[in-house]
Amino acid sequence: MKKKIRVGVLFGGKSAEHEVSLQSARNIIDAIDKTKYEVVPIGIDKLGRWFLDDAEHLLPESTTEGLADADQNALVTLMPEGRGELVGQSTSGAVDVVFPVLHGPLGEDGTVQGFLRLADVPYVGPNVLGSAVGMDKDVMKRLLRDAGIPTAAWRTVHRFQLEDLNLDDVISELGLPLFVKPANMGSSVGVSKARDKEALIPALKDAFRYDNKVLIEAFVPGREIECSVLGNETPIVSVPGEVLPQHEFYSYEAKYLDEKGALLHIPANLSAEAVEQMQALAIRTFQVLCCEGMARADFFFRPDGTFMVNEVNTIPGFTRISMYPKLWEASGISYAELIDRLIQLGIERHERDQKLETSFF
Ligand SMILES: Nc1ncnc2c1ncn2[C@@H]1O[C@H](COP(=O)(O)OP(=O)(O)O)[C@@H](O)[C@H]1O
Ligand SMILES: [Mg+2]
Repeated sequence: MKKKIRVGVLFGGKSAEHEVSLQSARNIIDAIDKTKYEVVPIGIDKLGRWFLDDAEHLLPESTTEGLADADQNALVTLMPEGRGELVGQSTSGAVDVVFPVLHGPLGEDGTVQGFLRLADVPYVGPNVLGSAVGMDKDVMKRLLRDAGIPTAAWRTVHRFQLEDLNLDDVISELGLPLFVKPANMGSSVGVSKARDKEALIPALKDAFRYDNKVLIEAFVPGREIECSVLGNETPIVSVPGEVLPQHEFYSYEAKYLDEKGALLHIPANLSAEAVEQMQALAIRTFQVLCCEGMARADFFFRPDGTFMVNEVNTIPGFTRISMYPKLWEASGISYAELIDRLIQLGIERHERDQKLETSFF
Protein backbone atom coordinates (compact mmCIF):
# COMPACT_ATOMS: atom_id res chain seq x y z
CA MET A 1 0.00 0.00 0.00
CA LYS A 2 1.26 3.47 -0.86
CA LYS A 3 2.32 5.52 2.15
CA LYS A 4 -0.21 8.22 3.00
CA ILE A 5 0.81 11.85 2.64
CA ARG A 6 0.87 13.48 6.07
CA VAL A 7 -0.87 16.85 5.92
CA GLY A 8 -0.37 19.28 8.78
CA VAL A 9 -3.60 21.27 9.03
CA LEU A 10 -2.95 24.56 10.82
CA PHE A 11 -5.96 26.31 12.33
CA GLY A 12 -7.00 28.96 14.83
CA GLY A 13 -4.29 31.57 15.19
CA LYS A 14 -3.57 34.87 16.89
CA SER A 15 -6.10 36.71 14.77
CA ALA A 16 -9.51 38.34 14.96
CA GLU A 17 -10.56 35.65 12.47
CA HIS A 18 -9.61 32.77 14.79
CA GLU A 19 -13.14 31.36 15.09
CA VAL A 20 -13.76 31.44 11.35
CA SER A 21 -10.59 29.46 10.81
CA LEU A 22 -11.79 26.73 13.19
CA GLN A 23 -14.95 26.31 11.12
CA SER A 24 -12.99 26.02 7.88
CA ALA A 25 -10.54 23.54 9.43
CA ARG A 26 -13.28 21.31 10.79
CA ASN A 27 -14.83 21.01 7.34
CA ILE A 28 -11.49 20.36 5.62
CA ILE A 29 -10.52 17.67 8.14
CA ASP A 30 -13.89 15.96 7.69
CA ALA A 31 -13.75 16.01 3.90
CA ILE A 32 -10.10 15.30 3.07
CA ASP A 33 -9.54 12.00 1.23
CA LYS A 34 -8.44 9.73 4.09
CA THR A 35 -7.29 7.00 1.72
CA LYS A 36 -4.60 9.31 0.40
CA TYR A 37 -3.91 11.70 3.26
CA GLU A 38 -3.30 11.44 6.98
CA VAL A 39 -4.33 14.60 8.83
CA VAL A 40 -1.98 15.96 11.46
CA PRO A 41 -4.06 18.63 13.26
CA ILE A 42 -2.13 21.58 14.66
CA GLY A 43 -4.18 24.16 16.57
CA ILE A 44 -2.81 27.64 17.18
CA ASP A 45 -4.30 29.36 20.21
CA LYS A 46 -5.04 33.08 20.51
CA LEU A 47 -1.60 33.61 22.04
CA GLY A 48 -0.04 32.10 18.94
CA ARG A 49 1.13 28.84 20.52
CA TRP A 50 1.04 25.69 18.39
CA PHE A 51 -0.48 22.46 19.74
CA LEU A 52 -0.49 19.01 18.21
CA ASP A 53 -3.50 17.04 19.35
CA ASP A 54 -6.58 15.23 18.07
CA ALA A 55 -8.88 17.46 16.05
CA GLU A 56 -11.86 16.41 18.20
CA HIS A 57 -10.01 17.63 21.24
CA LEU A 58 -8.77 20.92 19.80
CA LEU A 59 -11.87 22.06 17.92
CA PRO A 60 -14.69 23.47 20.08
CA GLU A 61 -18.35 22.56 19.67
CA SER A 62 -19.74 26.06 19.20
CA THR A 63 -18.93 28.42 16.36
CA THR A 64 -18.11 31.38 18.59
CA GLU A 65 -15.64 29.62 20.87
CA GLY A 66 -11.88 29.64 20.41
CA LEU A 67 -9.51 26.68 20.37
CA ALA A 68 -10.14 24.33 23.28
CA ASP A 69 -7.59 24.43 26.10
CA ALA A 70 -4.73 22.21 25.10
CA ASP A 71 -2.22 20.29 27.16
CA GLN A 72 1.11 22.12 27.52
CA ASN A 73 2.81 18.84 26.67
CA ALA A 74 1.24 19.10 23.26
CA LEU A 75 3.20 22.24 22.35
CA VAL A 76 4.88 21.76 19.01
CA THR A 77 6.86 23.63 16.38
CA LEU A 78 8.57 23.02 13.08
CA MET A 79 12.32 22.65 12.72
CA PRO A 80 14.09 25.13 10.42
CA GLU A 81 15.23 23.18 7.34
CA GLY A 82 13.59 20.14 8.96
CA ARG A 83 11.53 19.21 5.88
CA GLY A 84 8.39 19.21 8.00
CA GLU A 85 9.96 17.69 11.12
CA LEU A 86 7.82 18.45 14.16
CA VAL A 87 9.52 19.20 17.44
CA GLY A 88 7.71 18.95 20.78
CA GLN A 89 7.93 17.32 24.17
CA SER A 90 5.90 14.30 23.24
CA THR A 91 6.23 14.48 19.50
CA SER A 92 8.35 13.22 16.75
CA GLY A 93 7.71 12.64 13.10
CA ALA A 94 7.24 14.92 10.16
CA VAL A 95 4.52 16.31 7.96
CA ASP A 96 4.92 16.13 4.18
CA VAL A 97 2.90 19.25 3.45
CA VAL A 98 1.06 21.91 5.45
CA PHE A 99 -2.39 23.38 4.80
CA PRO A 100 -2.54 26.71 6.65
CA VAL A 101 -6.26 27.21 7.25
CA LEU A 102 -5.67 30.58 8.87
CA HIS A 103 -7.44 33.81 8.05
CA GLY A 104 -6.14 37.30 8.62
CA PRO A 105 -2.84 38.63 9.98
CA LEU A 106 -0.30 36.14 11.35
CA GLY A 107 -1.67 33.39 9.14
CA GLU A 108 -2.74 34.66 5.75
CA ASP A 109 -0.25 37.53 5.50
CA GLY A 110 3.02 35.76 4.71
CA THR A 111 4.26 35.33 8.28
CA VAL A 112 3.28 31.66 8.59
CA GLN A 113 4.26 31.14 4.96
CA GLY A 114 7.76 32.45 5.77
CA PHE A 115 7.97 30.08 8.72
CA LEU A 116 6.92 27.15 6.50
CA ARG A 117 9.46 28.16 3.90
CA LEU A 118 12.21 28.18 6.52
CA ALA A 119 11.04 24.74 7.60
CA ASP A 120 11.45 23.70 3.95
CA VAL A 121 8.03 22.09 3.86
CA PRO A 122 5.53 22.45 0.99
CA TYR A 123 2.36 24.37 1.84
CA VAL A 124 -0.97 25.29 0.32
CA GLY A 125 -1.71 28.77 -1.02
CA PRO A 126 0.34 31.77 -2.11
CA ASN A 127 3.96 32.21 -1.08
CA VAL A 128 5.31 34.87 1.29
CA LEU A 129 5.05 37.75 -1.15
CA GLY A 130 1.65 36.86 -2.60
CA SER A 131 0.23 36.39 0.88
CA ALA A 132 1.62 39.68 2.17
CA VAL A 133 0.43 41.62 -0.88
CA GLY A 134 -3.01 40.02 -0.74
CA MET A 135 -3.39 40.93 2.91
CA ASP A 136 -2.30 44.56 2.69
CA LYS A 137 -5.10 46.44 0.92
CA ASP A 138 -2.92 49.53 0.47
CA VAL A 139 -0.06 47.70 -1.29
CA MET A 140 -2.55 45.54 -3.17
CA LYS A 141 -4.33 48.60 -4.58
CA ARG A 142 -1.06 50.25 -5.56
CA LEU A 143 -0.07 47.17 -7.58
CA LEU A 144 -3.52 47.01 -9.19
CA ARG A 145 -3.31 50.70 -10.08
CA ASP A 146 0.14 50.13 -11.58
CA ALA A 147 -1.32 47.37 -13.77
CA GLY A 148 -4.26 49.54 -14.86
CA ILE A 149 -6.78 47.34 -13.03
CA PRO A 150 -9.70 49.41 -11.71
CA THR A 151 -10.11 49.66 -7.95
CA ALA A 152 -12.00 52.13 -5.74
CA ALA A 153 -10.34 55.53 -5.19
CA TRP A 154 -8.79 55.66 -1.74
CA ARG A 155 -6.61 57.47 0.74
CA THR A 156 -4.18 55.60 3.02
CA VAL A 157 -3.75 57.02 6.52
CA HIS A 158 -0.96 55.96 8.85
CA ARG A 159 -1.48 56.36 12.57
CA PHE A 160 1.19 59.06 12.76
CA GLN A 161 -0.67 61.09 10.11
CA LEU A 162 -3.99 61.00 11.90
CA GLU A 163 -3.60 64.31 13.72
CA ASP A 164 -3.04 66.21 10.48
CA LEU A 165 -5.83 64.49 8.59
CA ASN A 166 -8.30 66.98 7.16
CA LEU A 167 -11.63 65.18 6.92
CA ASP A 168 -13.17 67.90 4.74
CA ASP A 169 -10.38 67.34 2.18
CA VAL A 170 -11.01 63.61 2.24
CA ILE A 171 -14.73 64.12 1.70
CA SER A 172 -14.24 66.58 -1.15
CA GLU A 173 -11.77 64.17 -2.77
CA LEU A 174 -13.67 60.89 -2.30
CA GLY A 175 -17.28 61.94 -1.66
CA LEU A 176 -19.76 60.32 0.71
CA PRO A 177 -20.48 57.71 1.96
CA LEU A 178 -16.99 56.39 2.65
CA PHE A 179 -15.67 52.99 3.65
CA VAL A 180 -13.06 52.87 6.36
CA LYS A 181 -11.02 49.70 6.85
CA PRO A 182 -7.81 48.45 8.42
CA ALA A 183 -5.21 47.81 5.70
CA ASN A 184 -4.48 44.34 7.06
CA MET A 185 -7.56 42.47 8.21
CA GLY A 186 -10.41 40.44 6.81
CA SER A 187 -13.93 39.16 7.52
CA SER A 188 -15.02 42.83 7.66
CA VAL A 189 -13.41 43.21 11.09
CA GLY A 190 -12.92 46.95 11.68
CA VAL A 191 -14.75 47.89 8.45
CA SER A 192 -17.35 50.71 8.63
CA LYS A 193 -19.47 52.68 6.24
CA ALA A 194 -19.43 56.36 7.16
CA ARG A 195 -22.33 58.42 5.85
CA ASP A 196 -21.03 61.79 7.03
CA LYS A 197 -18.06 63.56 8.55
CA GLU A 198 -19.17 62.81 12.14
CA ALA A 199 -19.33 59.09 11.42
CA LEU A 200 -15.77 59.10 10.06
CA ILE A 201 -14.26 59.70 13.49
CA PRO A 202 -15.52 56.54 15.24
CA ALA A 203 -14.96 54.60 12.01
CA LEU A 204 -11.29 55.58 11.97
CA LYS A 205 -10.95 54.86 15.66
CA ASP A 206 -12.36 51.39 15.20
CA ALA A 207 -10.18 50.58 12.18
CA PHE A 208 -7.03 51.76 13.99
CA ARG A 209 -7.72 49.18 16.70
CA TYR A 210 -6.56 46.52 14.26
CA ASP A 211 -3.81 48.12 12.22
CA ASN A 212 -1.46 51.10 12.12
CA LYS A 213 -2.55 51.78 8.56
CA VAL A 214 -6.13 52.43 7.51
CA LEU A 215 -7.83 52.95 4.15
CA ILE A 216 -10.56 55.45 3.49
CA GLU A 217 -12.28 54.36 0.32
CA ALA A 218 -14.81 55.90 -2.03
CA PHE A 219 -18.13 54.07 -1.99
CA VAL A 220 -18.65 51.89 -5.05
CA PRO A 221 -22.27 51.32 -6.01
CA GLY A 222 -22.60 47.91 -7.57
CA ARG A 223 -23.22 44.20 -7.14
CA GLU A 224 -20.72 42.12 -5.19
CA ILE A 225 -19.41 39.37 -7.46
CA GLU A 226 -16.75 36.87 -6.45
CA CYS A 227 -14.85 34.11 -8.20
CA SER A 228 -12.36 31.44 -7.27
CA VAL A 229 -8.92 31.06 -8.82
CA LEU A 230 -6.84 27.88 -8.60
CA GLY A 231 -3.37 27.03 -9.91
CA ASN A 232 0.25 28.10 -10.01
CA GLU A 233 1.63 29.31 -13.34
CA THR A 234 -1.54 28.50 -15.30
CA PRO A 235 -4.46 29.25 -13.00
CA ILE A 236 -8.06 28.39 -13.76
CA VAL A 237 -11.10 30.39 -12.72
CA SER A 238 -14.53 29.32 -11.52
CA VAL A 239 -18.00 30.51 -12.39
CA PRO A 240 -18.94 33.78 -10.67
CA GLY A 241 -20.96 33.98 -7.49
CA GLU A 242 -22.93 36.90 -6.13
CA VAL A 243 -23.23 37.99 -2.52
CA LEU A 244 -26.41 39.82 -1.59
CA PRO A 245 -25.85 41.22 1.89
CA GLN A 246 -29.07 41.70 3.84
CA HIS A 247 -27.37 44.29 6.04
CA GLU A 248 -26.09 47.76 5.24
CA PHE A 249 -23.01 46.04 3.73
CA TYR A 250 -21.29 42.63 3.92
CA SER A 251 -20.31 43.10 7.56
CA TYR A 252 -18.93 40.55 10.05
CA GLU A 253 -22.44 40.07 11.34
CA ALA A 254 -23.83 39.48 7.86
CA LYS A 255 -21.00 37.03 7.13
CA TYR A 256 -21.00 34.89 10.24
CA LEU A 257 -23.44 35.81 12.99
CA ASP A 258 -26.71 36.22 11.18
CA GLU A 259 -27.72 33.03 9.41
CA LYS A 260 -29.78 35.05 6.97
CA GLY A 261 -27.19 37.86 6.78
CA ALA A 262 -26.39 37.30 3.14
CA LEU A 263 -27.73 35.39 0.17
CA LEU A 264 -25.32 33.68 -2.18
CA HIS A 265 -26.29 33.25 -5.81
CA ILE A 266 -24.24 30.63 -7.59
CA PRO A 267 -23.71 31.08 -10.43
CA ALA A 268 -24.31 34.81 -10.46
CA ASN A 269 -26.82 36.03 -12.98
CA LEU A 270 -24.52 37.77 -15.47
CA SER A 271 -24.31 37.87 -19.24
CA ALA A 272 -21.76 35.64 -20.97
CA GLU A 273 -19.75 38.75 -21.90
CA ALA A 274 -19.67 39.95 -18.31
CA VAL A 275 -18.53 36.52 -17.09
CA GLU A 276 -15.76 36.48 -19.67
CA GLN A 277 -14.68 39.98 -18.68
CA MET A 278 -14.64 39.02 -14.99
CA GLN A 279 -12.72 35.77 -15.53
CA ALA A 280 -10.00 37.49 -17.52
CA LEU A 281 -9.75 40.18 -14.86
CA ALA A 282 -9.55 37.54 -12.12
CA ILE A 283 -6.59 35.81 -13.77
CA ARG A 284 -4.77 39.11 -14.33
CA THR A 285 -5.44 40.18 -10.75
CA PHE A 286 -4.16 36.83 -9.45
CA GLN A 287 -0.95 37.20 -11.43
CA VAL A 288 -0.39 40.90 -10.78
CA LEU A 289 -0.74 40.24 -7.06
CA CYS A 290 1.84 37.39 -7.19
CA CYS A 291 -0.66 34.72 -6.12
CA GLU A 292 -0.10 30.98 -6.38
CA GLY A 293 -2.24 28.02 -5.36
CA MET A 294 -5.48 29.76 -4.61
CA ALA A 295 -7.25 33.05 -4.11
CA ARG A 296 -10.78 34.32 -4.17
CA ALA A 297 -11.09 37.49 -6.20
CA ASP A 298 -13.86 39.88 -5.15
CA PHE A 299 -15.33 42.48 -7.47
CA PHE A 300 -17.90 45.20 -7.70
CA PHE A 301 -19.99 44.94 -10.86
CA ARG A 302 -20.99 48.50 -11.61
CA PRO A 303 -24.18 49.73 -13.25
CA ASP A 304 -22.16 50.64 -16.37
CA GLY A 305 -21.34 46.95 -16.88
CA THR A 306 -17.69 47.11 -15.82
CA PHE A 307 -15.89 45.40 -12.94
CA MET A 308 -13.76 46.91 -10.24
CA VAL A 309 -11.55 44.77 -7.99
CA ASN A 310 -12.42 45.04 -4.31
CA GLU A 311 -9.83 42.63 -2.94
CA VAL A 312 -8.34 39.15 -3.05
CA ASN A 313 -8.36 36.62 -0.26
CA THR A 314 -5.45 34.21 -0.36
CA ILE A 315 -6.91 31.86 2.26
CA PRO A 316 -10.62 32.40 1.71
CA GLY A 317 -13.32 31.02 3.99
CA PHE A 318 -13.24 27.27 3.47
CA THR A 319 -16.30 25.81 5.14
CA ARG A 320 -18.50 23.63 2.96
CA ILE A 321 -20.89 26.54 2.53
CA SER A 322 -18.19 29.13 1.84
CA MET A 323 -18.03 30.84 -1.52
CA TYR A 324 -14.57 29.58 -2.57
CA PRO A 325 -15.34 25.84 -2.48
CA LYS A 326 -18.97 26.32 -3.53
CA LEU A 327 -17.90 28.10 -6.69
CA TRP A 328 -15.62 25.18 -7.54
CA GLU A 329 -18.41 22.73 -6.85
CA ALA A 330 -20.56 24.66 -9.34
CA SER A 331 -17.65 24.53 -11.78
CA GLY A 332 -17.23 20.75 -11.49
CA ILE A 333 -14.60 20.35 -8.74
CA SER A 334 -15.91 18.73 -5.55
CA TYR A 335 -14.87 19.89 -2.07
CA ALA A 336 -12.62 16.84 -1.52
CA GLU A 337 -11.05 17.12 -4.96
CA LEU A 338 -10.35 20.80 -4.37
CA ILE A 339 -8.44 20.01 -1.18
CA ASP A 340 -6.51 17.35 -3.09
CA ARG A 341 -5.62 19.73 -5.93
CA LEU A 342 -4.52 22.47 -3.54
CA ILE A 343 -2.19 20.10 -1.72
CA GLN A 344 -0.72 18.88 -5.00
CA LEU A 345 -0.17 22.48 -6.16
CA GLY A 346 1.74 23.20 -2.95
CA ILE A 347 3.92 20.13 -3.48
CA GLU A 348 4.56 21.04 -7.14
CA ARG A 349 5.61 24.56 -6.20
CA HIS A 350 8.00 23.24 -3.57
CA GLU A 351 9.56 20.82 -6.07
CA ARG A 352 9.95 23.65 -8.57
CA ASP A 353 11.54 26.00 -6.05
CA GLN A 354 13.91 23.35 -4.77
CA LYS A 355 15.62 23.35 -8.14
CA LEU A 356 16.80 26.93 -7.55
CA GLU A 357 20.43 27.43 -6.64
CA THR A 358 21.02 28.58 -3.09
CA SER A 359 24.75 29.14 -3.38
CA PHE A 360 26.85 30.96 -5.90
CA PHE A 361 29.94 28.71 -5.81
N1 LIG B 1 -15.53 50.88 -1.48
C1 LIG B 1 -16.59 50.14 -1.15
N2 LIG B 1 -17.80 50.40 -1.70
C2 LIG B 1 -18.89 49.67 -1.37
N3 LIG B 1 -18.87 48.67 -0.47
C3 LIG B 1 -17.71 48.37 0.11
C4 LIG B 1 -16.49 49.07 -0.21
N4 LIG B 1 -15.49 48.55 0.51
C5 LIG B 1 -16.03 47.57 1.25
N5 LIG B 1 -17.35 47.45 1.03
C6 LIG B 1 -18.27 46.51 1.72
O1 LIG B 1 -17.62 46.03 2.90
C7 LIG B 1 -17.36 44.62 2.80
C8 LIG B 1 -16.03 44.29 3.45
O2 LIG B 1 -14.99 45.05 2.87
P1 LIG B 1 -13.66 44.36 2.33
O3 LIG B 1 -12.81 45.42 1.75
O4 LIG B 1 -14.00 43.23 1.43
O5 LIG B 1 -12.96 43.85 3.67
P2 LIG B 1 -12.63 42.38 4.21
O6 LIG B 1 -11.24 42.09 3.76
O7 LIG B 1 -12.72 42.52 5.68
O8 LIG B 1 -13.63 41.43 3.61
C9 LIG B 1 -17.45 44.34 1.32
O9 LIG B 1 -17.78 42.99 1.07
C10 LIG B 1 -18.57 45.30 0.89
O10 LIG B 1 -19.83 44.83 1.30
MG1 LIG C 1 -14.02 41.15 1.62
